[in-house]
Amino acid sequence: MKALILVGGLGTRLRPLTINTPKAMMPVLNKPFMAHVVGQLMHHGVDEIILTRGHLAAQMESYFGDGSGLGIKVVYVDETRPLGTAGGIKNCERHLDETFFVLNGDVFSTIDFSAMLHSHRSKKATATIALTPVDNPSAFGLVETETDGRIRRFIEKPKPDEITTNMINAGCYLLEPEVLDFIKPDTLTSIERETFQLLLKDKQPFYSFDTTGAYWIDMGNREKYYQLNIDMLNGVCNCAGTPSPGVHLGEGTSVDPSAEISGNVVFGENCRVGANAIVTGPAVIGAGCQLGNRVSVSGSLLWPGVNIGDDSSVILSIIGDHCRIASSDHIDDSALADGVYTPPSLTLSGAAVWPGTIMSN
Ligand code: GDD
Ligand code: MG
Repeated sequence: MKALILVGGLGTRLRPLTINTPKAMMPVLNKPFMAHVVGQLMHHGVDEIILTRGHLAAQMESYFGDGSGLGIKVVYVDETRPLGTAGGIKNCERHLDETFFVLNGDVFSTIDFSAMLHSHRSKKATATIALTPVDNPSAFGLVETETDGRIRRFIEKPKPDEITTNMINAGCYLLEPEVLDFIKPDTLTSIERETFQLLLKDKQPFYSFDTTGAYWIDMGNREKYYQLNIDMLNGVCNCAGTPSPGVHLGEGTSVDPSAEISGNVVFGENCRVGANAIVTGPAVIGAGCQLGNRVSVSGSLLWPGVNIGDDSSVILSIIGDHCRIASSDHIDDSALADGVYTPPSLTLSGAAVWPGTIMSN
């Protein structure tokens, strides 16, 4: 079974974190986001992943290679210019000769993909869309259905007066190769705004699959990316590979006996925590992070190689790769992209700092 994952977007809503790191490779509990998604698919028997890449394509290949390390096949299809969600699928046509999954590359879910495939086959559908309930469908694709699950209407980013249901497109489809005949080659095309409309007009057997009850999140903005990490740490998403409650220390990590670590905290390998430091979960500390003496970290995500000087605090923040936080800094509710250097005694609140910025007081 093949799954095509759309990872060609620019991750604009996650900037500045996505300037040098593609959305799919952003760390979630010290593993690239995409590795969690692939794990879920493998659990349901998917054995080939097609990654349709654009922005910062090479980083995915250096992690996944040909997939043999994970026991699957990984194929890369590049777009020299963005082709949109349908154009990206059409661009992979040579690899798509049987029923296949399509996933938006920023969605993590515990959808029962096996049950979805069963439903798709039993209805002899040309296309099936997974649906999930949300409080406000306006940022999503709203899907109206008939009582037998057949899709009646699909409205991408509905206006307030178009909201007739709370069920939205979960960004997960099962498609038959015939769907590709509805997409023009080499053309910027949206599956949501164009292809799905054509399937409806053509009265194709186009069905929904209700996934109410499964965990679902689109981590495409900073708040949701943060929430996904916290949900995984706190066991909310109830999926394989999430840690048990408590403190987890990676290999080679050393913690001074006077430091206090509490709540749900995951450390990567080779971290160092200094004397009288306080780390309060939920928190994720990437590999090779160095926390100085009396440092306080709470509710935060540190990417690998972050160095925090003595007496500094980092609260409710995301700190990118290899940032150097000087001593006596107070950083709260902020996102620092990779390689940011701060001066001592800085107070930063509600900030978003671009990669490689050398800050001064
Ligand atoms: N290959 C490729 N090429 N991928 C792309 C392109 C492109 O030109 N444009 C976007 N993508 C990828 C993004 O990387 C993302 O993984 C996925 O397509 C969806 O794009 P988003 O920009 O994240 O869309 P959205 O979140 O506003 O809306 C979509 O997802 C919702 C569920 O989260 C739509 O599919 C909605 O209908 C849906 O409800
Ligand atoms: Mg999205």
